[in-house]
Amino acid sequence: MYYQNLRGLHWNINGKHFFELHVKFEELYNDVQLKIDLVAERILTLGFSPLHTFSDYLKKSSIKEGKNISDAKTAVQLVVSSLQTIILLERAILKTADKLNDEGTNTMLTDFITQQEKEIWMYSAWLKH
Ligand SMILES: [Fe+2]
Repeated sequence: MYYQNLRGLHWNINGKHFFELHVKFEELYNDVQLKIDLVAERILTLGFSPLHTFSDYLKKSSIKEGKNISDAKTAVQLVVSSLQTIILLERAILKTADKLNDEGTNTMLTDFITQQEKEIWMYSAWLKH
């Protein structure tokens, strides 16, 4: 859901911040695309089956659809709130991974969280302008 929202933000953004945010949202969705694949393949590695259909995403996602967002501030707020939601989910998974001594999942999520916290800091700083 976050990935597809980012595509929409990249396409629909307009106004004086178009050039910077159009590029930034592309950077974000390219990075998220890699993460989606890492998560899915980690799930497979552990012997489970990752969700891959839009109907399941709509049912399971904690992130709401962002539709036709063209305003820069609204777009960046959606990025920040989505990252905050994702980090909460990752922290919950970390607790389970800890209990199960699942270092692989732990390392992957720790790296994600470190990067996402930095993204929250940067996009929140942008919002202060
Ligand atoms: Fe593009």
